Amino acid sequence: MTVCEYKPGLEGIPAAQSSISYVDGKQGILEYRGIRIEDLAEKSTFLETSYLLIWGELPTKAELEAFESEIRYHRRIKYRIRDMMKCFPETGHPMDALQASAAALGLFYSRRALDNPAYIRQAVVRLLAKIPTMVAAFQLMRKGNDPVRPRDDLDYAGNFLYMLNEREPDPLAARIFDVCLTLHAEHTMNASTFSARVTASTLTDPYAVVASAVGTLAGPLHGGANEEVITMLEEIGSVENVRPWLDNLPPKSKIMGFGHRVYKVKDPRATILQSLAEQLFEKFGHDKYYDIAVELEKAVEEKLGPKGIYPNVDFYSGLVYRKMAIPTDLFTPVFAIARVAGWLAHWKEQLGENRIFRPTQMYTGDRGAAYIPIDQR
Ligand code: SDX
Repeated sequence: MTVCEYKPGLEGIPAAQSSISYVDGKQGILEYRGIRIEDLAEKSTFLETSYLLIWGELPTKAELEAFESEIRYHRRIKYRIRDMMKCFPETGHPMDALQASAAALGLFYSRRALDNPAYIRQAVVRLLAKIPTMVAAFQLMRKGNDPVRPRDDLDYAGNFLYMLNEREPDPLAARIFDVCLTLHAEHTMNASTFSARVTASTLTDPYAVVASAVGTLAGPLHGGANEEVITMLEEIGSVENVRPWLDNLPPKSKIMGFGHRVYKVKDPRATILQSLAEQLFEKFGHDKYYDIAVELEKAVEEKLGPKGIYPNVDFYSGLVYRKMAIPTDLFTPVFAIARVAGWLAHWKEQLGENRIFRPTQMYTGDRGAAYIPIDQR
């Protein structure tokens, strides 16, 4: 076997062959199944895009209606899952609650009939349908309230906002939320997708695949950065303080919402999210943290632009969610709701060409060391 150079973080190492999405990090291009993200954001819906990602083609009208109706039918969660979630501490992070709840679905639905297309379809439908219900249920229950039942007359995005806020969603907010889900649905071999594929490669059940990916997404270097961005903007506090704050950062500090392993220009999703934030401000009023964010983007570009450090997807998303009254610690669970589509697409693709992931390592420890009895150490 050829000995390869060690690349920390597997930078530049292909981990799979995939036809699901494509990123050109120099030109800032993202495509799902060959279709530009800008087109999908404008013309598609999250569920249509999910179908595209998972089954490889845009659905016909009849296929889409059938898919939407199956998802609507499976939105509710079993009372035993709800009761389990009621026992979670209300101080716990919603990503931890989501990871545990996603894994718990496996207790009810796991049969591991991975060669049966009907099982694959049911798992896809159940995960897409139930994850938003579980996120909303935890939010209400941690405030001491009962979760609300999903509403069949509302679409995917509108129903989530309804379950979360217990009131009729504004149509513009619901449409913008749906676009946000489309933007977050998939992104090549990111850390959580890699995690999903590794888990999938053992032929475990899809609920375990999604639970492991949720755990990976939660970290502040990945999906968790959207929450950290708002904390950072709050800490900066004013437009005037942006440059002093930046100048006083300890060397090598990571500015949340900036930088990317692949993009060396502004992430195309950040550009769209910024314009979605502006649309929301026109209808619902301005947010002073947006001005801080714009000034920070300018200042970081001047300082770190030559190194290819620009806003990523997590920089403007929180400003959009804030206007929808989504609590800050739900930003990453919202990312997860969307990314379930990408994880499932990769799960399905992995099963089609499966070989268990089992890389190697470069051993740096001792060999043949003596065992020292405890009283001689
Ligand atoms: C997501 O992979 C995906 O596709 C992920 C994602 C998706 O849709 O799935 O796009 C979603 O996870 C977005 C990223 C969210 N994370 C953050 O916003 C956290 C802040 N950003 C970073 O820590 C960082 O940029 C990463 C984690 C996103 C990427 O890390 P890399 O590729 O390992 O880069 P690195 O940490 O090795 O940095 C390379 C250089 C370093 O400088 P030098 O030591 O070479 O001089 O760039 C600098 C870093 O210090 N750098 C930053 C920076 N990010 C990189 N400097 C300041 N602020 C930053 N944010």
